[in-house]
Amino acid sequence: MSFFSKKVTRIQPSPTISITAKAKKLKQEGKKIIDFSAGEPDFDTPDNVKDAGIKAIKEGQTKYTPVNGTKELNEAIIKKFKRENNLVFNPEEITVGCGGKQVIYNALLATIEKGDEIIIPSPFWVSYPDITILVEGEPVVLDCSLENNFKINPQDLENKITNRTKWLILNSPSNPTGAMYTEQELQNLAKILLKHPHVWIMCDDLYEHIIFDDLEFKNILQVESSLKSRTFIVNGVSKAYAMTGWRLGYGAGPKELIKEISKIQSQSTTHTSSISQFAAIEALDNSDEFIKKNKTIFQERRDLFFSKIKEYQSLKAFLPQGSFYVYVGCDELMGKKKEDGTEIKNDLDLSDYLLDEGVAVVPGEAFGYSNFFRISFATSNENIIEGCKKIISACQKLK
Ligand SMILES: Cc1ncc(COP(=O)(O)O)c(C=O)c1O
Repeated sequence: MSFFSKKVTRIQPSPTISITAKAKKLKQEGKKIIDFSAGEPDFDTPDNVKDAGIKAIKEGQTKYTPVNGTKELNEAIIKKFKRENNLVFNPEEITVGCGGKQVIYNALLATIEKGDEIIIPSPFWVSYPDITILVEGEPVVLDCSLENNFKINPQDLENKITNRTKWLILNSPSNPTGAMYTEQELQNLAKILLKHPHVWIMCDDLYEHIIFDDLEFKNILQVESSLKSRTFIVNGVSKAYAMTGWRLGYGAGPKELIKEISKIQSQSTTHTSSISQFAAIEALDNSDEFIKKNKTIFQERRDLFFSKIKEYQSLKAFLPQGSFYVYVGCDELMGKKKEDGTEIKNDLDLSDYLLDEGVAVVPGEAFGYSNFFRISFATSNENIIEGCKKIISACQKLK
């Protein structure tokens, strides 16, 4: 009998984190790698936010805080929802954890019984199915085709709902595709959800602030407020304010859920760092300029990537409306052979080959949607230009 639990043997370490680590190792060994695998902005945390963290340390804000975050941080989060999303929450409807990831984990742990189903639209962020398995739920993958711009077809959603469905996860803009739902599309999904009142909606809005082409972000509650009694919004400071290492995420939802989340967190991490909480207040209150500037930079990089990759017709890149990722279709390369005669059978083989050729990308299989790979354009223009060159010349060598 294994000493380790079945739950943990069924899950994998996060593939994106392992690829980044492999790329780092190759770099340390002296190999030049263009890293398109990173899941974080390459910018530094803004100075005003760093200063708020330093001030908190100097002022002795270094003790335990309430489990769901300090009163000041709760207020900043409530203000953010009102100002940016026109949504009203009370303090008892807010939780704060060590990153959006922990907030999601807590919410699922608080609600899932063995065998409960969670509908996860694919391509999906790598952690949703594994967190589901860890809490003994059943991931129910809902394929969102390229033809439907990687978004949920409402009828397909309805077909996946059973009486064991507990949650639908809605990630817009999405990691890995950057697809973002319009108001109308959200309304169409809401219509289905209104027919199934036992299904809760988890909105993962981590990429809310990285959107392009003057599009406007909408949360499903902004188009159908009656879903509020069964919607949990997850957000955080990692992506919007370049604060991945500070480990701060937050959630807003019905107070019964927050109460259970709070119990779990009080018996695990207790709360996230007090210093991060003070820095997050500054990030939430005073980052309009930072967000605006980064949006422009990310959009320019996205467009640069597209202008380069389109020179090679066998790769089909999907234009993201948000996030800093591009999902690139590579089915035309399947079955081709490397110079040593080995065949590229799938996107994993292709990603391995690209890494050998000096570019780190994440295979689509990790996101539950094969014959694609994900690149992150959270890197410099020079790297984007050189990385595209390397991808194209590596692919052209395949016969
Ligand atoms: C879609 C999505 N949700 C949640 C997270 C979690 O972010 P964090 O735990 O850093 O807040 C990530 C991170 O990559 C993500 O891409």
